[in-house]
Amino acid sequence: MDLGFFRFLCQAETRRLVSLLGITVALILVLQFSELPNSNFVSSLTARIKSFTIDSSSVNSTLEGNNVNVNLNASNSNSSDALQDISISPQTSSLENGEGIENVVNVSSPMVSVDGKDVNLTSQVNQSSLLAPQPMVPLSNGSFFDSKMYPKDGILESVEKMHSTMSNNKPKISKNSKRPSKVVPISEMNLMLQRSHASSQIVKPASSEAVSAEILRAKSEIENAPIVVNDSRLYSPLYRNVSMFRRSYELMEKMLKVYVYPDGDKPIFHEPLLDGIYASEGWFVKLMEGNKQFMTGDPEKAHLFYIPFSSRLLQLTLYVRNSHKRSNLIDYMKNYVDMIAGKYPFWNRTNGTDHFVVACHDWAPAETRGRMLNCIRALCNADIEVGFKIGKDVSLPETYIRSIENPIKNLGGNPPSQRPILAFFAGGLHGYVRPMLLKLWENKEPDMKISGPLPHVKGNTNYIELMKSSKFCICARGHEVNSPRVVEAIFHECIPVIISDNFIPPLFEVLNWESFAVFIKEGHIAYLRDILLAISEEKYLEMHKRVKKVQEHFLWHHEPVKYDLFHMLLHSIWYNRIFYTS
Ligand SMILES: *[C@@H]1O[C@H](CO)[C@@H](O)[C@H](O)[C@H]1NC(C)=O
Ligand SMILES: *[C@@H]1O[C@H](CO)[C@@H](O)[C@H](O)[C@H]1NC(C)=O
Ligand SMILES: *[C@@H]1O[C@H](CO)[C@@H](O)[C@H](O)[C@H]1NC(C)=O
Ligand SMILES: *[C@@H]1O[C@H](CO)[C@@H](O)[C@H](O)[C@H]1NC(C)=O
Ligand SMILES: *[C@@H]1O[C@H](CO)[C@@H](O)[C@H](O)[C@H]1NC(C)=O
Ligand SMILES: *[C@@H]1O[C@H](CO)[C@@H](O)[C@H](O)[C@H]1NC(C)=O
Ligand SMILES: *[C@@H]1O[C@H](CO)[C@@H](O)[C@H](O)[C@H]1NC(C)=O
Ligand SMILES: *[C@@H]1O[C@H](CO)[C@@H](O)[C@H](O)[C@H]1NC(C)=O
Ligand SMILES: *[C@@H]1O[C@H](CO)[C@@H](O)[C@H](O)[C@H]1NC(C)=O
Repeated sequence: MDLGFFRFLCQAETRRLVSLLGITVALILVLQFSELPNSNFVSSLTARIKSFTIDSSSVNSTLEGNNVNVNLNASNSNSSDALQDISISPQTSSLENGEGIENVVNVSSPMVSVDGKDVNLTSQVNQSSLLAPQPMVPLSNGSFFDSKMYPKDGILESVEKMHSTMSNNKPKISKNSKRPSKVVPISEMNLMLQRSHASSQIVKPASSEAVSAEILRAKSEIENAPIVVNDSRLYSPLYRNVSMFRRSYELMEKMLKVYVYPDGDKPIFHEPLLDGIYASEGWFVKLMEGNKQFMTGDPEKAHLFYIPFSSRLLQLTLYVRNSHKRSNLIDYMKNYVDMIAGKYPFWNRTNGTDHFVVACHDWAPAETRGRMLNCIRALCNADIEVGFKIGKDVSLPETYIRSIENPIKNLGGNPPSQRPILAFFAGGLHGYVRPMLLKLWENKEPDMKISGPLPHVKGNTNYIELMKSSKFCICARGHEVNSPRVVEAIFHECIPVIISDNFIPPLFEVLNWESFAVFIKEGHIAYLRDILLAISEEKYLEMHKRVKKVQEHFLWHHEPVKYDLFHMLLHSIWYNRIFYTS
């Protein structure tokens, strides 16, 4: 272990108590939902991570479906050590604070227990790499990534160099690359959704009493939805509650009216940008403004008001290169809202709660601050840490559109038997998670293709081919929590493995993500292989089937079709409009 790392740990120590507190809360929540007869985690050394739900047909279910429990068991029987084992990630969040303390963590070979079988994690993972500190050195320009610091084949060297830099400087963390101060596991996100959608006779105010009454009626009808036994179209394991979803979707088709503000100049407003990684917002603008069914010219009839801006075009139009200032972008949006609130009565009637935006650029959470926080915000950057409100805001799928003419070009992938690669990741080393991922897993196992960016090939055919031939596709966060890989994986029928703490997965209101995706905490990257190997062939096949079935919800079409991404997005906004109470 190098000296830099020791200092790194010392710095982390100040907030150790705070971190432990957070972890304690998380653990208690987790344990509450596990089958442990005695949930006293302090005496029990077993920390259960409920990272993924695999098969709802077997028993032992928590919120929905059945969990494969991966138990981390510290062989060294000391409870605080056990906690340390699983707190690698939150602990290191305290970098901002510089004070040092002595107590160095001693991680003793943690065990993973899968279906009662113990797996020694350190069989594959080098002990020291398990605790490897995250390279997080701020650069003078305020960002954390500089390709120059990552020579193609010298990543480890660069990481080492960064450690020593780190021990000499007190790093200041930029908002973008900051580790979360508290990790909210997906089980807790589910609870947050339940709480924010609590059943009641109350709905948020609407622009008119007639509309209010309609929404209340819709809510009641959805809550009393006829039970769907077998729907020929909707495969029930994919949904939180297929009966409610089907009813809500039907009512949306029948009732929903959206008023689109005509105000705002192109290109920031009304201009669809249809390709690239931020294309979701562009497709939504295009399809919404071209829609006859849901659009209304009569705002008195509207259930929802759409502010049709593009966060990407806002950035491209107004951001002054190298200015490192986005306050002018934030002001621009604030002025727009002030303008519509003054010009029309609608904003003031509901304080904006029936208004919505759809925005995919990284900065969209900042651009929709202030009074726009009252709106329903469909954001690609769906991060609890930057103010995403579960149950109100909608996680917008980030779709990387390579062909505007045919957004579903290359759809599909190999059948399970022709997927020799266990895990695949390739991409830039943005943020603090990916360097860690590579350090631990690049060139470690022949069936794990974990690497930096692939050589450029026309049409990215090499990348696509790897996604089509892999069982699991790693979706590790970059600077921000979201990544186009989540949808790409689904597109190519590869199980998404999401390594991005506090990322709310797309269409969270409706989809039972744990039934077709794997969630691994950032602090558990070292266990990646064990976790994936713990998924039996049978379970994998079931997940693969589910990914194929859920695919239709993530596709854009020039002419929208039932249950496609346009409709699913609109549905999630509608659903949250109806159910969000606080
Ligand atoms: C869950 O599994 C445990 C054994 O792992 C078993 O004792 C318990 O009865 C199961 N719970 C349910 C609800 O089936
Ligand atoms: C975890 O460790 C405790 C104490 O060493 C042991 O009794 C228990 O069986 C272990 N659990 C698993 C799942 O390995
Ligand atoms: C656990 O660790 C603490 C200090 O780190 C020590 O005082 C205590 O004796 C240990 N308990 C066991 C059971 O090893
Ligand atoms: C960590 O534990 C091992 C074995 O229990 C021990 O040999 C080693 O000295 C410990 N290291 C520290 C820093 O406590
Ligand atoms: C573990 O990693 C350290 C430093 O990265 C290295 O010196 C050591 O040889 C490695 N041990 C094994 C068993 O690979
Ligand atoms: C789904 O929702 C309906 C209507 O609220 C309810 O009756 C049913 O029990 C729910 N099903 C599940 C599996 O939660
Ligand atoms: C529902 O579908 C499953 C499989 O698709 C089938 O086995 C079952 O018989 C069906 N049940 C009903 C009531 O149609
Ligand atoms: C809405 O309220 C703001 C004050 O918050 C006020 O300036 C504005 O004129 C009001 N809009 C209308 C249409 O009355
Ligand atoms: C409207 O929202 C703002 C925050 O944007 C809040 O300060 C204000 O209290 C709200 N007004 C009402 C009437 O709820």
